[in-house]
Amino acid sequence: MPVDPQPQAVLSPLTESAVFLTMTVGDGGEQAVRDLLPDLGGLVRSVGFRLPDEGLTCVTGIGADLWDRTFDGPRPAALHPFREVTGARHHAPSTPGDLFLHVRAVRLFPCFELARLVRTRLGDAAVVVDEVHGFRYFDRRDLLGFVDGTENPTGDGASAAVLVGGEDPAFAGGTYVMTQKYLHDLPGWQGQSVEARELAVGRRMLDDVELDDATKPPDSHVALTTIVDDDGTEREILRDNMPFGSIADGEYGTYFIGYAADPDVPERMLRRMFVGEPEGSTDRLLEFSTAVTGSLYFVPSAALLDDPPPARTAAEAARPAPAHGDLGIGDLRGTR
Ligand code: HEM
Repeated sequence: MPVDPQPQAVLSPLTESAVFLTMTVGDGGEQAVRDLLPDLGGLVRSVGFRLPDEGLTCVTGIGADLWDRTFDGPRPAALHPFREVTGARHHAPSTPGDLFLHVRAVRLFPCFELARLVRTRLGDAAVVVDEVHGFRYFDRRDLLGFVDGTENPTGDGASAAVLVGGEDPAFAGGTYVMTQKYLHDLPGWQGQSVEARELAVGRRMLDDVELDDATKPPDSHVALTTIVDDDGTEREILRDNMPFGSIADGEYGTYFIGYAADPDVPERMLRRMFVGEPEGSTDRLLEFSTAVTGSLYFVPSAALLDDPPPARTAAEAARPAPAHGDLGIGDLRGTR
């Protein structure tokens, strides 16, 4: 029986530090990206081998537009640009991002060093449009004070939730990653009672126990992001959120990053949060949290990263870009 290719280090554990680097790649930069991909593993070893206790990993994602500009042949079946979500009161914007690095280690400096090496390698081919340095805050809490990541799937459940399999065999072992940078109104959030904050999240703050169904409001974050199919199957994603911030700028944030075998799952969660379920009953977290970025990428398996699809030929490039087989970026209000 054929064995699915090894994924990139998407299933590796939460670390104390992370760098999230979002880049755009200008026309003509595609070949530089394609040349870089097989060398990424070597760059991780160059930094990480000397630091065996750091657990340095790097996951690389490629956006829909860059994928089409760079490679010949079929594209990952569910890859499309991030679909912005507009509800009556909340908005999840779609922002530029062609190439994304999720670099994790115990300390920040190995993440920084690896991101620097990759960025240097790309030279003029890429522009860094967003850089976030995430840190662990107390016992895996976000800056809102709640433990973040508790209900992540683990073991085989995590692999099943995250990795593409037989449904798209050419891209098996890959995954999709959705990223969003959120800024919090921390004084406003902290100005509420602890009980009001717990009702917004759906869990207790101190001991991280989930509120019982009778107490948990339907517009709590946990209620809206719990998705169960008609046949009773719960659809999960793997989140590696990290806090970040700047005291000087009064910036207090959560970098949301969710891996899924099918991007439809985090997209459904987003629509429930931003449009509401039922419509108008939106996530209480959003009263104090604003999404300022939003992107979606395909993360090839480690094998495909080492041996990427052939470069797009000049003849191929002369043809119009393929449609993304979806609604594109647009107003998804009311679609669930
Ligand atoms: C402001 C940004 C966000 C913050 C601060 C945040 C925080 C949290 C916290 C504290 C929990 C409860 C503990 C846990 O299980 O991890 C949670 C659960 C969860 N969040 Fe978020 N989250 C954010 C954005 C998102 C987004 C954008 C999505 C999906 C697109 C999402 C999906 C989930 C899921 C699936 C759960 C687990 C629900 C369950 O099964 O109990 N979160 N989040």
